Amino acid sequence: MKKIFAANWKLHKTPAETRAFFKSFKEVSAKATGELVFFPSAISLEAACDTVKGSNIHIGAQNCYAQNQGAFTGENSAQVVKELGGDYILIGHSERRQLFGETDGLIAEKVAMVQNLGLTPMLCIGETLQEREAAHTFRVLETQLLLGLAKADKSKPLVIAYEPVWAIGTGKVATPEQVAETHTDVHGILTKLGFTAPILYGGSVKADNAPTLIAQPHVSGFLVGGASLEVDSFIKIATV
Ligand code: 13P
Repeated sequence: MKKIFAANWKLHKTPAETRAFFKSFKEVSAKATGELVFFPSAISLEAACDTVKGSNIHIGAQNCYAQNQGAFTGENSAQVVKELGGDYILIGHSERRQLFGETDGLIAEKVAMVQNLGLTPMLCIGETLQEREAAHTFRVLETQLLLGLAKADKSKPLVIAYEPVWAIGTGKVATPEQVAETHTDVHGILTKLGFTAPILYGGSVKADNAPTLIAQPHVSGFLVGGASLEVDSFIKIATV
């Protein structure tokens, strides 16, 4: 399975900061040992796509609506992302689920629409601390995959990002044992559902924990938040 190193910039970096980042990142991007994907905020997408043209860097949006156009004030269109030159859309990040009320049903529509446009959905799944402590992790992930992929095409590209909610932005990374066990479970669920997809780990990934985590079974790369905002820290992760 190919390795993917993905950067979720969340609500960081203006268009000017985005251009400046890629100008220096392009000088080191050839060192990456897998595919590079960046998710800038929607308003910085055009700056990102323009600046990475001709490089080995892929761009995606952090979200899109389940329709390409229409009376949906404030939403973003995957069709526009495609026209700008983007290849990926992040779907169902835990911040979208928790802060903006995204349901598995809406997520399933988005996954299918993105695939139909010829872009790759990167579907995020993950349990809360409460769910892990109650030993519900398997059931939560199984439900998120079953419902989130209900309308997906098994023959089209798909990437899964497993991000335990309690590890996001907390500095509390999952242990290698937890990552090994959970990625093996996610792989098993996907296989049972008939999907083949790289499974990325996300949640407080840093240059110092990346080598141990990438060595775990069914870990095909990372989805990185905080440590992706600086060229040096992200390229260290992308060269493990
Ligand atoms: P951190 O790497 O900052 O924990 O964020 C992870 C994340 O949410 C990536 O989507």
